[in-house]
Amino acid sequence: MSAKILDGKAIALELRESIRAEVDRQVAAGKPRPGLAVIMVGDDPASAVYVRNKKIACEKAGFNDVSEVLPAQTTQQEVLALIDKLNADESVHGIIVQLPVPAHIDPEEIIERISPCKDVDGFHPYNVGRLATRMPIMAPCTPHGVMTMLAKTGIQLRGLDAVVVGASNIVGVPQLLELLNERATVTVCHSATKNLAHKVAQADLVVVGVGIPEMVKGDWIKPGAIVIDVGINRMDDGRLVGDVEFEVAKEHASWITPVPGGVGPMTIATLLENTMKVAYHLDCKAK
Ligand code: GUN
Repeated sequence: MSAKILDGKAIALELRESIRAEVDRQVAAGKPRPGLAVIMVGDDPASAVYVRNKKIACEKAGFNDVSEVLPAQTTQQEVLALIDKLNADESVHGIIVQLPVPAHIDPEEIIERISPCKDVDGFHPYNVGRLATRMPIMAPCTPHGVMTMLAKTGIQLRGLDAVVVGASNIVGVPQLLELLNERATVTVCHSATKNLAHKVAQADLVVVGVGIPEMVKGDWIKPGAIVIDVGINRMDDGRLVGDVEFEVAKEHASWITPVPGGVGPMTIATLLENTMKVAYHLDCKAK
C-alpha cells in the first residue's frame, strides 16, 4: 500500500485564496486591511526565511505588513517598548515575535507582553489556557494548521489513538490540546519517553515535531495510520527532510504529509487566518 499525500501546499493555497477574497469583501465594505507585525530580533538564517515568506504571504493576502527586523544586540526593554507601541496601534491586529530569540532576550516575558487579543501565535498563557479549557480563541498556527489538514482527510478523529512525538510549546503541547478537544486519545512522547517505537506502532495518527531528521522510522508506522511530519531539517547536501523516514513510512500509512510542501505552508496560512479573525471577527475581552 502506498499512502495518499496530504498536500499542505495545495490546502494552504486554497485557504490563502479564501482569506484574500474575504479581505477584498471587507475592504470594499469600508473595513481596514488586517495588519500583521512580525518582530524578528537578530539574523538567525532559518528565521529570516520564515519572516520573508510571511511578508510575501501578507502582501498576497492583501494585509498590511508592519514587520520589524531588529539588530541582534537589541535589549529586552527595547523589544518590550516596541510591543507596547504595537499593542496600542489600532491598525495592528496581530503581533508575533519570531522564535528563537538571541540568548539575552527572555522569550516568556516578551510573549506575555503581547496583548492576548493580538497574540496571533496563540502562545500567550491566556490563549494556551483558553485552548486547554476547551474555549479556544487563538490557537498556535502549526498545530491548528495540522487540524485543518486532518479535516481534509474526512477521517473522524473521535476515539482515534494519537501519538504526538515532541512536547514543545509551539507544536507538541498545543497539538495534544487540539486533538484532545476533538476527542482523540492522545499520548505525548518526548526525550525521556521509553520505548518510543512501541508507542508509535500503536497509533492510528502520528504527529511528529522534534527537529531530528528521520528520527521516526518508517517501519514503526501501523498499517493504515495517518502520519503528519512537522519537521523540516536541512541536510549537509542541501536536501530538506522531515522527522519521519518518508520513503518507508509511506508504504505503511494511509495518509502522509511530504516535506517540504506538507505542514510548513499551513503555518503561514493559519497565521493569516488568525490575524483576519482579530481584524474582523473577534470581540476580545482579555486584558
Ligand atoms: N519559530 C518556529 N515556529 C514559529 C511560530 O509558529 N511562531 C513564532 N513566533 N516563531 C516560530
